[in-house]
Amino acid sequence: MSYFRANIDAMTGYVPGEQPREGSKVIKLNTNENPYPASESIGRAVESVLRRGMQRYPDPLATAFRMRAGEVLGVPADWILCGNGSDEILTLVTRAFVGEGERLRLPYPSYILYKTLAQIQGATSEEIHFDEQWRLGPDFTAASPDLKLAFLPNPNSPSGTLIPPEQVLELARTLPCPLIVDEAYVDFAEDNCVRLVKECDKILVSRTLSKSYALAGLRFGYVVAQPHIIEGLRKLKDSYNCDALSIAAATAAIDDQTWLAANVAKIRASRATLTAAVRKLGFTAINSQANFVWCTMPGRELKPLYEHLKANGVLVRYMPYAGWGEGLRISVGTDDQNDVCLALLTEALRKPPTPRC
Ligand SMILES: Cc1ncc(COP(=O)(O)O)c(C=O)c1O
Repeated sequence: MSYFRANIDAMTGYVPGEQPREGSKVIKLNTNENPYPASESIGRAVESVLRRGMQRYPDPLATAFRMRAGEVLGVPADWILCGNGSDEILTLVTRAFVGEGERLRLPYPSYILYKTLAQIQGATSEEIHFDEQWRLGPDFTAASPDLKLAFLPNPNSPSGTLIPPEQVLELARTLPCPLIVDEAYVDFAEDNCVRLVKECDKILVSRTLSKSYALAGLRFGYVVAQPHIIEGLRKLKDSYNCDALSIAAATAAIDDQTWLAANVAKIRASRATLTAAVRKLGFTAINSQANFVWCTMPGRELKPLYEHLKANGVLVRYMPYAGWGEGLRISVGTDDQNDVCLALLTEALRKPPTPRC
């Protein structure tokens, strides 16, 4: 006999990308982390919290972070809610809007977690396929019974493509429910949707410090939305969902916009070199606005390439999408790391492909 709700028993659970043991020498290009260390000011901020001691609970609303982030983004602090990584934000938003038997909508292929969030709620997820150019047609905004929330990763994962903000606004206005624009990778892109939040209260924008601020190990994310939406979301969150160390570190990180700009410039330059190199190897790689490159090669099985890389100490993400096809998603590393990856891909591609049965 199971003690779990039937929908929990029925689901398999989200499987995050492989995380090798601490200290291993693997070149990690599989979970879109930043290859460079974060701003040095973060260490000083954390040390000062440790010196002060941690016997008191942290600020439940991470006000220091919200005030600085508000200045950077051009929104008041009460338009921001912080979370333990943007995954927590996505969970809160799903719990807030989507009940059992109701429905959420997501593009396909996109971030696999959204479907898991629907399963936890006992809700239905409706996957709307991107077209060949990674655009979304009218199916994405169509009225549908019980539709309570739509997800839009922008830039999308795995493609790295961006739907321009004016089109996102159009999607939100047409949808009969809120739209959460997941901007986990947006600092690497040409534009973002934060300004749309002022125009339409159906738009929520989630962000993370895991990628562009090189703080995946910290767990800090946030959402920008109109104050009545933020107020509603506050009711669901754990009282102290962000700890004192992470609030101090995240505040120092967002304060250092000079570090961010320099880091983004380096990643974008390496992304261009990596994209050109994989194309030269015969992959199809659409221009990415994120810190990864999506590589496909119709007619060639890609799992053996992934396995060759892994056997030689380089992890990339092999992603098979049922009804869509497969690809390798390669996170942009340092130029040296990318070179090792490219050399191994070149080697693997010289081997004859495994015949398909
Ligand atoms: C599209 C997308 N959204 C959100 C996240 C989660 O980021 P966080 O580390 O803030 O939980 C990821 C992580 O890879 C992602 O790819």
